[in-house]
Amino acid sequence: PAAAEPVTGGAVTTVAKPETPREVTVLFGSQTGNCQRLAVSLSRKLEEQGFQVTVAAMNSFKPNGLKKVENLLLLVSTHGEGEPPDNARAFHEFLYSKRAPQLPHLRFSVLALGDTSYEFFCQTGKDFDQKLEELGAQRLSPRVDCDLDYDEPVAEWFGHVIGALNGSQNTSGIADAAVQAAESAESLESSYSRNHPFHAEVLENLNLNGRGSDRETRHLELSLAGSNITFEPGDSLGVYPENHPQLVEDIIAAMGWNRDERVPLNKKGEEGTLHEALLRHYEITVLTKPLLEQAAGLASTPALQELLAPERQQDLKNYIQGRDLLDLIQDYAPWEVPARSFVTILRKLPARLYSIASSYNANPDEVHFTVRAVRYESHGRERYGVCSVHCAERVQPGATLPVYIQNNPNFKLPANPDVPVIMIGPGTGVAPFRSFLEEREEQGAQGKSWLFYGDRHFVTDFLYQTDWQRMLKDGVLSRLDVAFSRDTEEKVYVQHRILEKSKELYQWLQEGAHVYVCGDEKHMAHDVHSALITVIQEEGGLSPEAAAAYLETLQQEQRYQRDVY
Ligand code: 2AM
Repeated sequence: PAAAEPVTGGAVTTVAKPETPREVTVLFGSQTGNCQRLAVSLSRKLEEQGFQVTVAAMNSFKPNGLKKVENLLLLVSTHGEGEPPDNARAFHEFLYSKRAPQLPHLRFSVLALGDTSYEFFCQTGKDFDQKLEELGAQRLSPRVDCDLDYDEPVAEWFGHVIGALNGSQNTSGIADAAVQAAESAESLESSYSRNHPFHAEVLENLNLNGRGSDRETRHLELSLAGSNITFEPGDSLGVYPENHPQLVEDIIAAMGWNRDERVPLNKKGEEGTLHEALLRHYEITVLTKPLLEQAAGLASTPALQELLAPERQQDLKNYIQGRDLLDLIQDYAPWEVPARSFVTILRKLPARLYSIASSYNANPDEVHFTVRAVRYESHGRERYGVCSVHCAERVQPGATLPVYIQNNPNFKLPANPDVPVIMIGPGTGVAPFRSFLEEREEQGAQGKSWLFYGDRHFVTDFLYQTDWQRMLKDGVLSRLDVAFSRDTEEKVYVQHRILEKSKELYQWLQEGAHVYVCGDEKHMAHDVHSALITVIQEEGGLSPEAAAAYLETLQQEQRYQRDVY
């Protein structure tokens, strides 16, 4: 019917299109896929407004091309100790090098994703913002730094940059449209998303570690039946946990609150009981500087004011490390703050991402993931990883977990199933490789595959051992090298196995193998990276610099991909 409607007022509402389309370049640096998804959503919005948009990962954009760019929008996250995501590293280095050109013709704006519980909050975004200014570029609109709960500030930034590109001051209508665009972009792939998770039934929940192990690693299988959710190997599962019920009780008791009092559950104005709010809606296990500042604003707690003094930065850092909301409440009592106001300063309880451990094609309507229960003592009290211990202790078969798929475009099997793959994943880092190999088994892939696995003890900690054995027998897994670090006097890690097998490994690389690393970022992934450089250097007869450049090229060609945390 729409086509049959008379066209009325066309002449009045037609907006004169500029002769040459206005160009915008949108570049993203993304590790887990958030910035990438947002960049695509922003680009769609800009295209709707008549802009000609180029959207690309930073590492697939030739930095010299900047000289020709007029409008540049950068979306980038920050990792670890203020480091750029893998696909932003080379671009970041370029801008900080002598080769970086002056950019007086360029207009730009930066959206930074991060987490206020880290010292170097949004550092990579700040770096880009500062450097572009130093190179003479003009800011279109101010940088926006986002905490974990980024929807609102992202929508604001969208509104501001679109407004600035349109040369308008009044951007509120556009901001509203951008909020909707950002929200709908999330739900394009499935009707379930980060903001609208699917409540999946738990089918299995097993401890993968043997009796006597000092670790507990759970294998969970969830049903996706009725959800229309699908995923690809390499994608992650977002899981919304519940806080530890004891911690919730203790906080309520320490504050003298009433657990049934009605309080806001979120910024949208929904309300629920205080107990429900602290259990499912707010983060209570992490202290951040902004939280302490706001807490100090709610109550007259001179000692807390003092801790926040500029000259006591180091004390503040030490204090928040390893402490939770209960510590803060106990250490800086009395408070006399109503629960209603207190909850408004808390961060939203974020979902945790786990690498998916199953192939959708091999197990339709199911998703499997692997979680290591985190329990440790700190400041005289037993502490529990929120999601890992929730999964280990409180979600038996029949229970449900709110989940969504986080697509990870940076951790994907080669499109061609005949291409060899080298997979390095000690500990729970092995999870996505179970998905990779199940998928390849399903495809009848001909490509060779090589898995490096490591953990503490062979007898108790060999995660998915029977799966690997079956896959070796079937031939979908060609080689398996393991490193059990605590079975021998001397520690052996996956990188030692890599170095031992350097000749064959280099051979595989020369044959076009893709290399995947999953697991601990700080130590393992770093050491494995160095080991790979050593292999390339020695077997390829290259200088250390040339070997590093070889690996860099692999990374740019998406032949070296990492899912590290
Ligand atoms: P460790 O705990 O005995 O030191 C999975 O957690 C495995 O990764 C364990 O065997 C652990 O050994 C090992 N690991 C610890 N640090 C590592 C590193 N820097 N590189 C590789 N593996 C490491």
